[in-house]
Amino acid sequence: MAHSVAVIVGSLRKESFSLKIAKAFAKVAPSSLKLEIVTLHGLSFFNQDLEATPPADWVSFRETIQKSDAVLFVSPEYNRSVPGVLKNAIDVGSRPYGKSSFLGKPTGIVANSPGPLGGIAAAMHLKALLPGITGPILQQPEIYLNGVGDAFDDKGELTKEALEKVLRDYITAFAAWIDRIKK
Ligand code: FNR
Repeated sequence: MAHSVAVIVGSLRKESFSLKIAKAFAKVAPSSLKLEIVTLHGLSFFNQDLEATPPADWVSFRETIQKSDAVLFVSPEYNRSVPGVLKNAIDVGSRPYGKSSFLGKPTGIVANSPGPLGGIAAAMHLKALLPGITGPILQQPEIYLNGVGDAFDDKGELTKEALEKVLRDYITAFAAWIDRIKK
């Protein structure tokens, strides 16, 4: 049975490597997964004062997550953590208290960087902050994509074969893990 995955991109940048990686995942994913890329443009700041009458953009984001079978975060690292836009999206999706839209969803974490460390600190922060509000988090294989700055051509197509294999192996393992959980 096919499973839908909300692929949440942690960067708003037009030429974002995270977005390009999310799109590359969609190309190499097994047919049992339906990937929907979710960008965070237009998602307003979480404000607890608005919880009783949530803005339409929060409602829409929450619905997108709720209707997905699984969630995959693809994020860069900003200052040794996740970008504020991604933390905001997690905060929006996590509320109301006890009714997180992510609850029960098998969750994958993919960090990346043009630098040498592959965004590992951002991934570790995600692993620390998500457990109370999602479903199980895939622990292995781990994936920290370094040196992504020269992995795409000017059309945004992935040109590094080794990276394509890493993405294929990860998303294949992610699909098999979701199948086992959702059985
Ligand atoms: C960065 N960058 C960065 N890279 C890294 O490996 N570790 C870090 O802590 C940071 N910190 C950081 C802070 C801020 C504010 C910016 C703007 C950038 C570099 C970052 O990895 C690079 O800009 C990526 O290209 C951003 O991801 P996208 O937009 O390409 O997905």
